[in-house]
Amino acid sequence: MNQPIVRVRELRKSYGKLHAVDGVTFDIERGEIFALLGPNGAGKSTTIEILEGYRHRTGGEVSVLGTDPATAGLDWKTRLGIVLQSTGESGSATVREQLAHFAALYPDPRDVDEVIAAVGLEEKAKTLIRKLSGGQRRRVDVALGVIGRPELLFLDEPTTGFDPQARRQFWELVRSLKREGTTIVLTTHYLDEAAQLADRVGVIAGGRMVDVGGVDEIGGRDARVPVVRWRENGERRELRTDLPATHVARLVAAGDGVEPEGVEIVRPTLEDVYLSLIAHTTDATDIGAPSDSSREEVAA
Ligand SMILES: Nc1ncnc2c1ncn2[C@@H]1O[C@H](COP(=O)(O)OP(=O)(O)OP(=O)(O)O)[C@@H](O)[C@H]1O
Ligand SMILES: [Mg+2]
Repeated sequence: MNQPIVRVRELRKSYGKLHAVDGVTFDIERGEIFALLGPNGAGKSTTIEILEGYRHRTGGEVSVLGTDPATAGLDWKTRLGIVLQSTGESGSATVREQLAHFAALYPDPRDVDEVIAAVGLEEKAKTLIRKLSGGQRRRVDVALGVIGRPELLFLDEPTTGFDPQARRQFWELVRSLKREGTTIVLTTHYLDEAAQLADRVGVIAGGRMVDVGGVDEIGGRDARVPVVRWRENGERRELRTDLPATHVARLVAAGDGVEPEGVEIVRPTLEDVYLSLIAHTTDATDIGAPSDSSREEVAA
Protein backbone atom coordinates (compact mmCIF):
# COMPACT_ATOMS: atom_id res chain seq x y z
CA MET A 1 0.00 0.00 0.00
CA ASN A 2 1.12 3.54 -0.70
CA GLN A 3 2.44 5.50 2.21
CA PRO A 4 0.14 8.36 3.21
CA ILE A 5 1.38 11.78 2.08
CA VAL A 6 0.86 13.06 5.62
CA ARG A 7 1.22 10.81 8.65
CA VAL A 8 0.64 12.17 12.14
CA ARG A 9 0.88 10.07 15.31
CA GLU A 10 0.15 11.34 18.83
CA LEU A 11 1.19 14.86 17.88
CA ARG A 12 1.67 17.19 20.84
CA LYS A 13 2.39 20.89 21.10
CA SER A 14 2.49 22.82 24.35
CA TYR A 15 2.83 26.54 24.80
CA GLY A 16 4.02 26.70 28.38
CA LYS A 17 1.28 24.95 30.32
CA LEU A 18 -1.24 25.05 27.49
CA HIS A 19 -1.61 21.77 25.61
CA ALA A 20 -2.65 23.32 22.29
CA VAL A 21 -2.33 19.97 20.48
CA ASP A 22 -2.81 17.03 22.79
CA GLY A 23 -2.14 13.70 21.06
CA VAL A 24 -3.56 14.00 17.55
CA THR A 25 -3.37 11.09 15.08
CA PHE A 26 -4.43 11.05 11.42
CA ASP A 27 -3.29 10.25 7.88
CA ILE A 28 -3.86 12.09 4.62
CA GLU A 29 -3.75 10.07 1.40
CA ARG A 30 -2.24 11.37 -1.80
CA GLY A 31 -4.75 13.21 -4.01
CA GLU A 32 -7.42 13.83 -1.40
CA ILE A 33 -8.81 17.03 0.06
CA PHE A 34 -8.71 16.84 3.83
CA ALA A 35 -10.52 19.47 5.89
CA LEU A 36 -9.46 20.12 9.46
CA LEU A 37 -12.42 21.60 11.30
CA GLY A 38 -12.80 22.89 14.83
CA PRO A 39 -13.65 25.87 17.00
CA ASN A 40 -11.38 28.88 17.50
CA GLY A 41 -8.31 27.82 19.45
CA ALA A 42 -8.85 24.10 18.74
CA GLY A 43 -5.29 23.64 17.49
CA LYS A 44 -5.84 23.61 13.72
CA SER A 45 -3.27 26.24 12.77
CA THR A 46 -0.78 24.84 15.26
CA THR A 47 -1.15 21.37 13.72
CA ILE A 48 -0.91 22.64 10.15
CA GLU A 49 2.08 24.86 10.88
CA ILE A 50 3.91 21.89 12.39
CA LEU A 51 3.24 19.93 9.19
CA GLU A 52 4.55 22.88 7.17
CA GLY A 53 7.74 23.05 9.21
CA TYR A 54 6.83 26.46 10.63
CA ARG A 55 6.49 25.32 14.22
CA HIS A 56 8.34 22.80 16.33
CA ARG A 57 6.37 20.03 17.95
CA THR A 58 6.62 19.03 21.58
CA GLY A 59 6.04 15.34 20.91
CA GLY A 60 4.74 12.65 18.59
CA GLU A 61 5.65 11.61 15.06
CA VAL A 62 5.08 13.54 11.85
CA SER A 63 5.92 12.62 8.28
CA VAL A 64 5.04 14.90 5.35
CA LEU A 65 5.98 13.71 1.83
CA GLY A 66 7.99 11.01 3.58
CA THR A 67 10.08 13.49 5.53
CA ASP A 68 10.04 14.86 9.07
CA PRO A 69 9.21 18.59 8.71
CA ALA A 70 11.43 19.38 11.70
CA THR A 71 14.54 18.42 9.74
CA ALA A 72 13.40 18.89 6.14
CA GLY A 73 15.34 21.00 3.66
CA LEU A 74 14.60 23.47 0.90
CA ASP A 75 13.90 20.78 -1.74
CA TRP A 76 11.12 19.46 0.44
CA LYS A 77 9.73 22.95 0.97
CA THR A 78 9.46 23.65 -2.77
CA ARG A 79 7.02 20.72 -3.02
CA LEU A 80 4.62 22.43 -0.61
CA GLY A 81 2.21 25.27 -1.15
CA ILE A 82 1.39 27.28 1.94
CA VAL A 83 -1.38 29.77 2.65
CA LEU A 84 -1.00 30.78 6.28
CA GLN A 85 -3.93 32.03 8.31
CA SER A 86 -2.30 35.43 8.55
CA THR A 87 0.49 36.77 6.43
CA GLY A 88 2.77 39.73 6.98
CA GLU A 89 2.39 40.71 3.34
CA SER A 90 4.15 44.06 2.97
CA GLY A 91 2.73 44.89 -0.42
CA SER A 92 5.25 47.25 -1.99
CA ALA A 93 5.09 45.24 -5.23
CA THR A 94 2.27 44.80 -7.71
CA VAL A 95 0.29 41.58 -7.81
CA ARG A 96 2.07 40.48 -10.97
CA GLU A 97 5.56 41.41 -9.71
CA GLN A 98 5.04 39.56 -6.45
CA LEU A 99 3.83 36.40 -8.19
CA ALA A 100 6.62 36.53 -10.77
CA HIS A 101 9.16 36.95 -7.97
CA PHE A 102 7.89 33.87 -6.15
CA ALA A 103 7.42 31.84 -9.34
CA ALA A 104 11.15 32.26 -10.00
CA LEU A 105 11.96 30.47 -6.72
CA TYR A 106 10.33 27.19 -7.82
CA PRO A 107 11.64 24.56 -10.24
CA ASP A 108 8.36 24.15 -12.17
CA PRO A 109 6.09 27.12 -11.45
CA ARG A 110 2.67 27.75 -12.91
CA ASP A 111 2.12 30.48 -15.43
CA VAL A 112 1.79 33.79 -13.55
CA ASP A 113 -1.07 35.12 -15.66
CA GLU A 114 -3.01 31.87 -15.44
CA VAL A 115 -2.78 31.99 -11.66
CA ILE A 116 -3.83 35.65 -11.61
CA ALA A 117 -6.87 34.71 -13.70
CA ALA A 118 -7.66 31.68 -11.54
CA VAL A 119 -7.99 33.88 -8.45
CA GLY A 120 -9.89 36.59 -10.35
CA LEU A 121 -7.31 39.36 -10.09
CA GLU A 122 -6.78 40.15 -13.80
CA GLU A 123 -7.92 43.72 -13.34
CA LYS A 124 -5.63 44.20 -10.35
CA ALA A 125 -2.51 42.58 -11.82
CA LYS A 126 -0.69 45.93 -12.00
CA THR A 127 -1.98 47.26 -8.69
CA LEU A 128 0.25 47.52 -5.63
CA ILE A 129 -0.71 44.81 -3.14
CA ARG A 130 -1.07 47.34 -0.33
CA LYS A 131 -3.77 49.10 -2.33
CA LEU A 132 -5.92 45.98 -2.57
CA SER A 133 -8.99 45.31 -0.46
CA GLY A 134 -8.80 42.66 2.28
CA GLY A 135 -10.47 39.98 0.17
CA GLN A 136 -8.31 40.81 -2.84
CA ARG A 137 -5.17 40.54 -0.71
CA ARG A 138 -6.33 37.14 0.51
CA ARG A 139 -6.64 36.09 -3.12
CA VAL A 140 -2.98 37.07 -3.59
CA ASP A 141 -2.12 34.78 -0.66
CA VAL A 142 -3.93 31.92 -2.40
CA ALA A 143 -2.18 32.72 -5.69
CA LEU A 144 1.20 32.64 -3.92
CA GLY A 145 0.29 29.29 -2.38
CA VAL A 146 -0.33 27.63 -5.75
CA ILE A 147 2.26 29.39 -7.94
CA GLY A 148 4.96 26.76 -7.26
CA ARG A 149 2.75 23.89 -8.52
CA PRO A 150 2.80 22.19 -5.10
CA GLU A 151 2.21 18.47 -4.60
CA LEU A 152 0.72 19.27 -1.23
CA LEU A 153 -1.15 22.49 -0.57
CA PHE A 154 -2.01 23.83 2.89
CA LEU A 155 -4.84 26.33 3.06
CA ASP A 156 -5.49 27.80 6.52
CA GLU A 157 -8.84 29.62 6.34
CA PRO A 158 -8.12 30.67 2.75
CA THR A 159 -11.48 32.28 1.98
CA THR A 160 -11.89 34.53 5.00
CA GLY A 161 -13.05 37.86 3.61
CA PHE A 162 -14.01 36.48 0.20
CA ASP A 163 -17.30 37.62 -1.30
CA PRO A 164 -19.67 34.78 -2.29
CA GLN A 165 -18.64 34.91 -5.94
CA ALA A 166 -14.93 34.83 -5.08
CA ARG A 167 -15.60 31.85 -2.83
CA ARG A 168 -17.27 29.94 -5.68
CA GLN A 169 -14.35 30.81 -7.95
CA PHE A 170 -11.96 29.56 -5.28
CA TRP A 171 -13.88 26.27 -5.04
CA GLU A 172 -13.44 25.82 -8.78
CA LEU A 173 -9.70 26.48 -8.42
CA VAL A 174 -9.41 23.90 -5.63
CA ARG A 175 -11.31 21.31 -7.69
CA SER A 176 -9.07 21.90 -10.69
CA LEU A 177 -5.99 21.50 -8.48
CA LYS A 178 -7.40 18.23 -7.19
CA ARG A 179 -7.99 17.04 -10.75
CA GLU A 180 -4.31 17.68 -11.42
CA GLY A 181 -3.47 15.44 -8.49
CA THR A 182 -2.70 18.04 -5.81
CA THR A 183 -3.29 16.92 -2.22
CA ILE A 184 -4.98 19.67 -0.23
CA VAL A 185 -5.25 20.29 3.50
CA LEU A 186 -7.84 22.90 4.31
CA THR A 187 -9.14 24.59 7.42
CA THR A 188 -12.32 26.63 7.28
CA HIS A 189 -15.14 27.81 9.52
CA TYR A 190 -17.48 27.68 6.53
CA LEU A 191 -18.95 24.21 6.87
CA ASP A 192 -20.64 24.47 3.47
CA GLU A 193 -17.18 25.04 1.99
CA ALA A 194 -15.85 21.91 3.69
CA ALA A 195 -18.91 19.95 2.53
CA GLN A 196 -18.36 21.16 -1.04
CA LEU A 197 -14.65 20.44 -1.20
CA ALA A 198 -13.51 17.80 1.27
CA ASP A 199 -13.20 14.07 0.74
CA ARG A 200 -12.45 13.51 4.40
CA VAL A 201 -12.79 15.62 7.50
CA GLY A 202 -11.04 15.72 10.85
CA VAL A 203 -12.83 17.48 13.69
CA ILE A 204 -10.49 18.77 16.35
CA ALA A 205 -11.46 20.43 19.63
CA GLY A 206 -9.38 21.28 22.66
CA GLY A 207 -6.30 19.90 20.92
CA ARG A 208 -7.85 16.45 20.46
CA MET A 209 -9.25 14.73 17.39
CA VAL A 210 -12.95 14.21 18.07
CA ASP A 211 -13.66 12.31 14.87
CA VAL A 212 -12.11 11.73 11.48
CA GLY A 213 -13.73 10.20 8.43
CA GLY A 214 -15.42 10.66 5.08
CA VAL A 215 -17.33 13.90 4.67
CA ASP A 216 -20.55 11.85 4.32
CA GLU A 217 -19.76 9.47 7.16
CA ILE A 218 -18.34 11.55 9.97
CA GLY A 219 -20.47 11.67 13.10
CA GLY A 220 -21.95 8.24 12.42
CA ARG A 221 -25.21 7.12 10.85
CA ASP A 222 -27.40 8.29 13.71
CA ALA A 223 -26.33 11.89 13.21
CA ARG A 224 -27.44 11.73 9.59
CA VAL A 225 -31.01 10.43 9.81
CA PRO A 226 -33.21 12.74 7.73
CA VAL A 227 -36.31 14.49 9.06
CA VAL A 228 -39.63 14.70 7.21
CA ARG A 229 -41.60 17.84 8.04
CA TRP A 230 -45.16 18.60 7.06
CA ARG A 231 -48.28 20.32 8.37
CA GLU A 232 -51.44 18.57 9.45
CA ASN A 233 -54.54 20.64 10.28
CA GLY A 234 -52.29 23.71 10.47
CA GLU A 235 -49.95 22.04 12.98
CA ARG A 236 -46.25 21.38 12.32
CA ARG A 237 -45.31 17.74 12.41
CA GLU A 238 -41.97 16.01 11.94
CA LEU A 239 -40.54 12.52 11.89
CA ARG A 240 -36.96 11.32 11.90
CA THR A 241 -36.76 8.36 9.59
CA ASP A 242 -34.35 6.48 7.37
CA LEU A 243 -37.19 6.06 4.87
CA PRO A 244 -38.32 9.64 4.24
CA ALA A 245 -39.75 9.07 0.75
CA THR A 246 -41.75 6.09 2.04
CA HIS A 247 -43.18 8.28 4.77
CA VAL A 248 -44.14 11.00 2.29
CA ALA A 249 -45.84 8.37 0.12
CA ARG A 250 -47.80 7.23 3.18
CA LEU A 251 -48.89 10.79 3.87
CA VAL A 252 -50.12 11.14 0.30
CA ALA A 253 -51.97 7.82 0.49
CA ALA A 254 -53.54 8.76 3.84
CA GLY A 255 -54.83 11.98 2.29
CA ASP A 256 -56.40 10.15 -0.67
CA GLY A 257 -53.82 11.49 -3.05
CA VAL A 258 -54.02 15.10 -1.89
CA GLU A 259 -50.64 16.80 -1.64
CA PRO A 260 -49.81 17.16 2.07
CA GLU A 261 -49.11 20.70 3.27
CA GLY A 262 -45.58 22.08 3.57
CA VAL A 263 -43.73 18.81 2.98
CA GLU A 264 -39.95 18.86 3.17
CA ILE A 265 -37.23 16.32 3.72
CA VAL A 266 -34.32 17.81 5.60
CA ARG A 267 -31.00 16.07 5.85
CA PRO A 268 -28.53 17.15 8.56
CA THR A 269 -25.82 19.29 6.98
CA LEU A 270 -22.14 18.91 7.76
CA GLU A 271 -22.64 21.95 10.01
CA ASP A 272 -25.36 20.13 12.00
CA VAL A 273 -23.14 17.05 12.35
CA TYR A 274 -20.14 19.18 13.29
CA LEU A 275 -22.07 21.10 15.96
CA SER A 276 -23.29 17.89 17.56
CA LEU A 277 -19.75 16.47 17.50
CA ILE A 278 -18.22 19.44 19.31
CA ALA A 279 -21.17 20.06 21.64
CA HIS A 280 -19.66 17.90 24.37
CA THR A 281 -16.08 19.02 24.09
CA THR A 282 -14.38 21.65 26.18
CA ASP A 283 -11.77 24.26 25.37
CA ALA A 284 -8.06 23.44 25.08
CA THR A 285 -6.61 21.82 28.20
CA ASP A 286 -5.63 25.12 29.73
CA ILE A 287 -3.75 24.57 32.97
CA GLY A 288 -3.42 28.24 33.79
CA ALA A 289 -2.92 30.92 31.15
CA PRO A 290 0.34 30.73 29.22
CA SER A 291 2.86 33.31 30.35
CA ASP A 292 4.26 35.77 27.82
CA SER A 293 7.58 33.96 27.89
CA SER A 294 5.83 30.83 26.60
CA ARG A 295 4.70 32.57 23.43
CA GLU A 296 6.66 31.24 20.56
CA GLU A 297 7.30 33.11 17.37
CA VAL A 298 6.56 31.39 14.11
CA ALA A 299 9.86 30.48 12.52
CA ALA A 300 10.28 31.99 9.05
N1 LIG B 1 2.49 31.29 19.56
C1 LIG B 1 1.67 30.92 20.51
N2 LIG B 1 1.98 31.06 21.81
C2 LIG B 1 1.14 30.66 22.81
N3 LIG B 1 -0.07 30.10 22.59
C3 LIG B 1 -0.43 29.94 21.31
C4 LIG B 1 0.39 30.34 20.22
N4 LIG B 1 -0.24 30.04 19.05
C5 LIG B 1 -1.42 29.50 19.42
N5 LIG B 1 -1.54 29.44 20.77
C6 LIG B 1 -2.68 28.88 21.52
O1 LIG B 1 -2.86 27.54 21.10
C7 LIG B 1 -4.25 27.22 20.96
C8 LIG B 1 -4.50 26.72 19.55
O2 LIG B 1 -4.31 27.79 18.63
P1 LIG B 1 -4.47 27.61 17.07
O3 LIG B 1 -4.03 28.87 16.44
O4 LIG B 1 -3.81 26.35 16.65
O5 LIG B 1 -6.06 27.45 16.95
P2 LIG B 1 -6.97 27.31 15.65
O6 LIG B 1 -7.68 26.01 15.77
O7 LIG B 1 -6.18 27.55 14.43
O8 LIG B 1 -8.04 28.49 15.88
P3 LIG B 1 -8.72 29.54 14.84
O9 LIG B 1 -9.94 28.84 14.31
O10 LIG B 1 -9.11 30.67 15.73
O11 LIG B 1 -7.72 29.90 13.82
C9 LIG B 1 -5.00 28.49 21.33
O12 LIG B 1 -5.43 28.39 22.66
C10 LIG B 1 -3.97 29.59 21.18
O13 LIG B 1 -4.22 30.64 22.08
MG1 LIG C 1 -6.18 28.96 13.01
